[in-house]
Amino acid sequence: MLVKHTTGNNRIIIAIDGPAASGKSTTARKVAEKLGYTYIDTGAMFRSVTLKVLDLGMIDAVRQFPESILPLLQDLTVAFRGERVFLDGRDVSAAIRENRVSREVSFVSSLAPVRDRLRRMQQEMGSRKGVVMDGRDIGTVVFPDAELKIFLVADARERAKRRYAELAAKGASGSGLPDIGMLEQEILERDRADAERELAPLEKHPDAIEIDTSELSIDEQVGKVSRLALEKIASCAMTGKS
Ligand code: DC
Repeated sequence: MLVKHTTGNNRIIIAIDGPAASGKSTTARKVAEKLGYTYIDTGAMFRSVTLKVLDLGMIDAVRQFPESILPLLQDLTVAFRGERVFLDGRDVSAAIRENRVSREVSFVSSLAPVRDRLRRMQQEMGSRKGVVMDGRDIGTVVFPDAELKIFLVADARERAKRRYAELAAKGASGSGLPDIGMLEQEILERDRADAERELAPLEKHPDAIEIDTSELSIDEQVGKVSRLALEKIASCAMTGKS
């Protein structure tokens, strides 16, 4: 049983980055629970902006004229309540996981005004520390001074199998369930798009601790990251750094 660190000066920022389906969100959520920290899923924020563009029927316009996204960002709000995500006050927790969103999110998240707006929101959300934030650029761009930076990796086949199991558990079956080879291709394509984009590409900060989760269970991943977090919290408390 881990001690909860909800108060005092022992609150740090934990940044967890890595490619699609590397186990970031499950690990981040569970580590946050154990520590009594707030979990912030930044992928859900990029997905929310993408959903907004799609629902307004603006995806083609934005592709042609990227600046047409600006008014839509002005009144944007994204909030987390427990495990639920709210876009402009509407619960979009299920909608942001739809395939139409997954297909466009790499494009929308490559746009400078989108990254700018969300980076500011994320920095504000983490300003009082005591957060576990997962994404692609948290340790490199959003919180390069995060006390603990983790970079999760796993081989593409293993990640495709996890996605498949996730979809099957959600009730997709038969023709609604893509084959594992196709999922692997999609994952590799998204890795490529996220790593090759010009702004805030997916990359490991030199200080980040890399963990390969291919052979690890969720409990093992959570155990490893929680131990690293407790060590860091203790050393920051000792040196008065947090
Ligand atoms: O973690 P996810 O699969 O829900 O993220 C969806 C997309 O959002 C991902 O393909 C890239 C983008 N993203 C990003 O560019 N920066 C982040 N910090 C988090 C996600």
